[in-house]
Amino acid sequence: MTTAPPFANEPVLELRRAPVRARLADVLRDHDGRGPLAVPVWVGADQRTGDALVSTDPGAPERVVARAAAATQADVDAALDAAAAGHRDWGRRPAAERAAVLMRAAAWLREHRLEVAALEVRECAKPWPEADGDVCEAIDFLEYYSRGAVALEAGADLLQLPGERNTLSYRPRGVVAVISPWNFPVAIPCGMVAAGLATGNAVVLKPAEQAPGCAYVLVRALREAGVPADALALLPGEGEVGVALVRDPRVHTIAFTGSSQVGQEIVRTAAETPPEQAHLKRVIAEMGGKNCVIVDADADLDEVVPALVQSAFLYAGQKCSAAARVLCHEAVHDGLVERLGGAVEVLAVGQAERLDIDVPAVIERSAQERVARYAGEAERTGRLAATARSVPDGGWFATPALAVDLPPDSPVLHEEIFGPLLAVQRVRDVEDACDQVDASPFGLTGGLFARNPDTVDYVVDRSPVGNLYVNRAITGAMVGRQPFGGNRLSGTGTKAGGPGYLLQFVEARVVTENTMRHGLVV
Ligand SMILES: NC(=O)c1ccc[n+]([C@@H]2O[C@H](COP(=O)([O-])OP(=O)(O)OC[C@H]3O[C@@H](n4cnc5c(N)ncnc54)[C@H](O)[C@@H]3O)[C@@H](O)[C@H]2O)c1
Repeated sequence: MTTAPPFANEPVLELRRAPVRARLADVLRDHDGRGPLAVPVWVGADQRTGDALVSTDPGAPERVVARAAAATQADVDAALDAAAAGHRDWGRRPAAERAAVLMRAAAWLREHRLEVAALEVRECAKPWPEADGDVCEAIDFLEYYSRGAVALEAGADLLQLPGERNTLSYRPRGVVAVISPWNFPVAIPCGMVAAGLATGNAVVLKPAEQAPGCAYVLVRALREAGVPADALALLPGEGEVGVALVRDPRVHTIAFTGSSQVGQEIVRTAAETPPEQAHLKRVIAEMGGKNCVIVDADADLDEVVPALVQSAFLYAGQKCSAAARVLCHEAVHDGLVERLGGAVEVLAVGQAERLDIDVPAVIERSAQERVARYAGEAERTGRLAATARSVPDGGWFATPALAVDLPPDSPVLHEEIFGPLLAVQRVRDVEDACDQVDASPFGLTGGLFARNPDTVDYVVDRSPVGNLYVNRAITGAMVGRQPFGGNRLSGTGTKAGGPGYLLQFVEARVVTENTMRHGLVV
């Protein structure tokens, strides 16, 4: 491990090359030929399959992608008993040994990257470039946290005085419950699981009910790479499996990514300390937002329009970092709306497997209905300046739309919609825009387009968000380059893929020894 090369991001596929694109079609054909994936509840060596959860292709819901068993309370108990025992051996291993296992899992994903991406295309309607990016990010998390855990094991330097030896070391906390969303169906669970395992904890994974197949593939990669059976369990299921884990006194750490509402409920529940629980639970919660982009009067609209389209509509606006609300200087508002409107009208909406689409289906029927509800609200109280001209029938397709002239208290401006609906709002100036951003309870990502460096400094200073992007798209954070995570009600402030993240999964111990010995006892 000491010889591991410095961390570098996994290169994405070169989709501009025809032979690469041709391979994707072959891989997808093979994937479809294999039929639905059977996803087990996987605890220790036991695998129990079932069909309580059926995941389907959002673009063609009649296509079943995976059938999963759903974990019961007995499964939760078995997984936590196994983890409570399993973390001891795994946690005692040197970090370098654990890192070697996780790097083998990264190698497994590298070797199977096209098949894993194909599963994402089908199970979550991730377009190929996004699906490939997700697999690369999962590999990045494994590689990055492996190295980080080895560095953490070395402890930290403390001040030493004569006759005194002070040491600081970090120990695993014990059992980590990982509760993940569907929108980065391999990378996000992988990041949280890898952080827990790299630092010597046992992990119980409760993946999103919409994407059990992707989680299963991740757990296979880790188990086949050598993660012991009692250090990693897979518990597919609905939210109640998450509730059971969050309440359980055997859990030390909860790593959650998902909606703000669920995250807040987890924070509240986890604060309780029943009599049989001799520790405080730690919660890492990465949650939703309402991501604002400020456009100043001097912004270059040639740059702004494509960056906003990319930020708001790629993966149908279902990235937690997606642009949802534009606060545009009144001097350029009408020009921006006209140009953005033109771009929205011609967005290509279609099946995720096609390389010529911009916007795939949203994840499920309720998401489609939610987007339509907010679009209706925008039409009633403001105006839809543009909608995509052509939207296919059949799948859970939501119509990409641009909403303008909304009243200041419109829910379209303030609530997370998580779909392809972008609202543009006229502001007096950048100060007005910053006041409005500051009034939001969310603080995940944000953006600014401005050419004056003083304006950039001003907005950087006033911006409450966890990740601010200046003069570029606001999605696509890379491990090690843009550590990612929100503030306020968007998150507990930890930064996935950044230097401090692993500290959430360990507890610090300081030992101070008097070294002025008065003779030795033999
Ligand atoms: N900040 C980030 O890094 C980030 C990244 C991705 C997604 N998100 C957010 O995630 C949301 C979309 O994902 P989603 O729809 O899967 O979110 P969600 O909150 O509905 O579900 C997330 C996970 O929590 C589980 N769950 C549901 N209710 C629970 C409860 N009461 N207790 C414990 N677990 C419970 C679900 O089964 C799922 O596994 C959006 O709000 C998005 O912004 C945030």
